[in-house]
Amino acid sequence: MSEATFEPKILAFACRHCAYAAADLAGGLRIQYPPGVRIVEVPCTGRVEVTEVLHAFERGADGVMVAGCLEGDCHYLEGNLNAKRRVQYIAKLLDQIGLGGRRVAMVNLSSAMGAQFAEKVAEMMEQVQELGPNPLHAIRNTDGGHNDCSGTENA
Ligand code: FES
Repeated sequence: MSEATFEPKILAFACRHCAYAAADLAGGLRIQYPPGVRIVEVPCTGRVEVTEVLHAFERGADGVMVAGCLEGDCHYLEGNLNAKRRVQYIAKLLDQIGLGGRRVAMVNLSSAMGAQFAEKVAEMMEQVQELGPNPLHAIRNTDGGHNDCSGTENA
């Protein structure tokens, strides 16, 4: 696939109390955002484990966004802060293994921030587009593996 036609597949883990509702709001207001994002509702970003994010990359995601409540507004007190630390850890790990730490991002939103959700998705798409396809695609394709990130289930 050429860079010009590369449309990143982004998996977004979205907290049901804020970012998931913000995505819903964006949809309700017909605010456009790139179609390559798949949203997985989670009860809190604090529930998103490092292994789940790594599995998403293994299954073919080009980028992963973890979208939680605004800092100080997490319904489980520090879930989003724990998620932030995990995302920072994953970014370092991705840099070390050559995938690129910018493929993962943490964003914080309130349920009223539908337009901002769309902006964050567009920013993430642009960022991942610059990085190119997930290098694991090529490995999986030559290995006979499945090339999609649709296998992730709700947490
Ligand atoms: Fe939303 Fe914790 S409840 S990030």
